[in-house]
Amino acid sequence: MAAVAESIAGTIPAHIPKSLVFDFDHFTAPEVQKEPHRQVSQLLHKNAPDVFYTPRNGGYWIVTRAEVAVDMLRQVENFSSGPEFNHFKAFNPPMLPVQADPPNHTEYRRILNPKFAPGPIQKLEEYVRQLARTIIDEAYPHGRCDFIEEVAERFPVTIFLKIAGAPLADRARLVAIAVKYTRSPTFEERQAAITEMAHYLREKFKERIKEPKDDLLTQIVQARMPDRDLTDTEKEGLGVLLFFGGLDTVKSVLSFVVSYLAQHPDDYKKLVDNPAMIKSAMEELLRVSGVSTPERGVTHDLEYRGIPFKKGDRVVFLTQLWGVDDQQISNPYEVDFSRDVSQHYAFGAGPHRCIGSHLARLEFRIFLEEWTRTIKAFRLEKNVPVKTAGGVVWTPVELSLAWDV
Ligand code: HEM
Repeated sequence: MAAVAESIAGTIPAHIPKSLVFDFDHFTAPEVQKEPHRQVSQLLHKNAPDVFYTPRNGGYWIVTRAEVAVDMLRQVENFSSGPEFNHFKAFNPPMLPVQADPPNHTEYRRILNPKFAPGPIQKLEEYVRQLARTIIDEAYPHGRCDFIEEVAERFPVTIFLKIAGAPLADRARLVAIAVKYTRSPTFEERQAAITEMAHYLREKFKERIKEPKDDLLTQIVQARMPDRDLTDTEKEGLGVLLFFGGLDTVKSVLSFVVSYLAQHPDDYKKLVDNPAMIKSAMEELLRVSGVSTPERGVTHDLEYRGIPFKKGDRVVFLTQLWGVDDQQISNPYEVDFSRDVSQHYAFGAGPHRCIGSHLARLEFRIFLEEWTRTIKAFRLEKNVPVKTAGGVVWTPVELSLAWDV
């Protein structure tokens, strides 16, 4: 086991066996700052128990193996999404639907589904393609771009703001709030980001009450539970999570995918030569580009796989490692477009599986179709490893690309 610094060793609760303690911080560990999927999985899958306790950031369990994680995420009665079982997530407003268990959770999903089901998402194809073309055509003549700022933050965020009905002029402000939430290890900083986003949404909801439109903000304002109106807190909670999901995750995954392709020109050429391959190749790229860290709280004292959990223990799932889990997949770091990856877990598992997956997949496919159509070969501009950051959502933080014009 990794030795635990003396300053935090005393914070480990009595019920945690010493053999299950491993010192790892998914916000700041050196392994999350470069090639994190490979580095962190090599560290944890080789050296740590499949479920271990880290005393960092207030102390929590981390689950690293896909099979164990998927099994736990399905046991809603033992590992709950409710903030009352996870003090680190006792946010105001609670983020919905992700911080609710069935049956309320099912109702919240029903409210959001009409905008995120495959049918309505497919209707966005032409708009998404035009936007991809505009952004790529602007960058192309320069022979280079800062991919995160010029492309990854612009493309999915613009699409999400259109679905939501929020003005494009607010883009930079909203992205900054989402980043504050996903990169901050302390509860206080994350709560501050949530408060700021909830405040923004409150003003937007007032506008939609006066003047409804065909957008997500109006859909939330007008939504009802089967027997009552939604409370203001519920409306804000639904909005906050959607804005964080829509503003940060696709940007991060797209940046990991493009970073991989910049460093593997032979794989990129396969997509340029055969665009029909992009849809399935994207799944293989998603397998090695997971970014999210779902959390649960333990509902009662229980023993699971010999591990003594106590009511209120916080459990963090590293979906980032599931696709590179060598117990699930052979040669996990090798990207192979002919591999059957019909089942990967980048979008999570169980009742909370990502509601934005159809939108994200549409965005990835169209983006790569347009990028390969315009840019036949590209590379990292600087010959240095891509710097990445850990947190609630992992992401590359600097990605400058170059190509010949
Ligand atoms: C590649 C991009 C994305 C990834 C990797 C991703 C990942 C995930 C994961 C792992 C979960 C499960 C959380 C849990 O079990 O606690 C989740 C849930 C969720 N995602 Fe995504 N997401 C992505 C894109 C999006 C987008 C574009 C949106 C919305 C615009 C979105 C909205 C949501 C919502 C609302 C939930 C909560 C679902 C529920 O609680 O039932 N996501 N996402």
